[in-house]
Amino acid sequence: MSKTESNAAGATSALEIRDTRTGTSYSVPIMPPATEGDTAIRAMDLRQIKQKPDEFGLMTYDPAFMNTASCKSAITFIDGDKGILRYRGYPIEQLAEKASFLETAWLLRNGELPTQTEYDDWKHQITYHTYVHENIKTFLQGFRYDAHPMSMLCSSVAALSSFYPDAKNIEDPAERHISIVRLLAKLPTLAAFCFRHVKGLPFIYPDNDLGYVENFLSMVARMSEPKYEGNPAFVKALEVLFILHADHEKNCSTNAVRAIGSSHVDPFSAVAGGIAALYGPLHGGANEAVLHMIKEIGDKKNIPAFIESVKAGKGKLMGFGHRVYKSYDPRARIVKKLADDVFKVVGIDKDLEIALELERIALSDEYFISRKLYPNVDFYTGLIYRSMAFPTDFFTVLFAVARTAGWLAQWEEMLLDKEQKIARPRQIYTGYGERAYESTISHGGRGGGKDAVRK
Ligand code: SDX
Repeated sequence: MSKTESNAAGATSALEIRDTRTGTSYSVPIMPPATEGDTAIRAMDLRQIKQKPDEFGLMTYDPAFMNTASCKSAITFIDGDKGILRYRGYPIEQLAEKASFLETAWLLRNGELPTQTEYDDWKHQITYHTYVHENIKTFLQGFRYDAHPMSMLCSSVAALSSFYPDAKNIEDPAERHISIVRLLAKLPTLAAFCFRHVKGLPFIYPDNDLGYVENFLSMVARMSEPKYEGNPAFVKALEVLFILHADHEKNCSTNAVRAIGSSHVDPFSAVAGGIAALYGPLHGGANEAVLHMIKEIGDKKNIPAFIESVKAGKGKLMGFGHRVYKSYDPRARIVKKLADDVFKVVGIDKDLEIALELERIALSDEYFISRKLYPNVDFYTGLIYRSMAFPTDFFTVLFAVARTAGWLAQWEEMLLDKEQKIARPRQIYTGYGERAYESTISHGGRGGGKDAVRK
């Protein structure tokens, strides 16, 4: 049983549990509330609750971790009821308005805002690691012209691991640092190369004169002009969107990165796993799914029928709902305002009108209100990306570029957490008891006979 944990006042709060199967009572310490009041009991303290001494003991059963804290973390705080999101204590609204993405990436990892010297050095390091090995180009050219860019990005980030074998030395702070720099620096390059491959355009190399976001846009959009000049409204919008998407506590993809990283594999492989998780339509793939949904609706007059189909369980209102936010996602509020700014440049269009009407109707409908379904960060993001001429299947790639900052901060926090070990949940076994094997097939066609591997 863990050592008794007393709260700030020194008193020991506990859960008094009585097992009616045996009549035995147990006192399970309640962990002292953390900074924002989060508290829990240690699941391992339940293992003492048994009917017989040789039993395994009680576990908690929590599909999808609806009520399970897998770690302690100081990086991001979310209050889902109050719609609060803070990176290292700083409200997302203030960071989105005043910070840069690289400054935010530093903050997420290091816990404090950088000094000017730290920031200038950080930017320099990242700027001078944006190139990827030329063989990655050949690797990417192996994909079909219509390959989904998330498949390409996931594969190419995993492939990067083979170019940096020393990244496996995850105990070495210097190796962790250079891997973090390489991943933050090269994700935009890889993302842009994926874009250019699908478009059948030549790859554009990084331009070290440009800032992080503008360099990314240059690698995506530059054609024959000698120097790319980004539209300031788009550069600013993307900087803000990258900040908003940088981290989000223990979301599905971050959980994946932490679990994969807990095996002590290199961070390139762990981030590739995060990209794979983010690809799903219930997670980062939702921004792409929102646009498909709006296209399917086609016209504002079709919205009532679409809403009824969702309420009848024939699909979800993509871009709505959240595991944690049971009020408006604070990021969605910022993105909606950003959309207004961008559409002032490109002009409002039918899809935005459908989105605005969809939101208006959903926010007044009891079905969504009762389920606390509000727009999340993905609802308006896709409309902005589309207005910047990004293809729909590229939206989640943009999410992945930004979330790499959070994944890496969370990955390193996990490695440095003395309480963490290789992630390996238990299960409740519901299968057969022991039974004897009796073959039900003929094994003649094993494929190649006994010499198969010796030829
Ligand atoms: C992201 O975790 C994060 O932090 C993620 C993220 C991040 O920054 O990393 O914020 C990014 O992934 C945002 C979410 C993007 N996904 C979508 O927009 C897809 C649509 N949303 C849903 O699939 C859903 O809301 C989830 C996946 C986001 C959350 O699902 P939960 O918490 O498991 O909730 P649930 O599926 O149990 O839903 C509860 C009820 C159910 O109805 P009943 O069975 O009780 O009748 O609400 C319904 C659901 O059917 N519901 C929806 C709905 N979302 C939930 N009904 C219609 N449309 C929806 N969007």
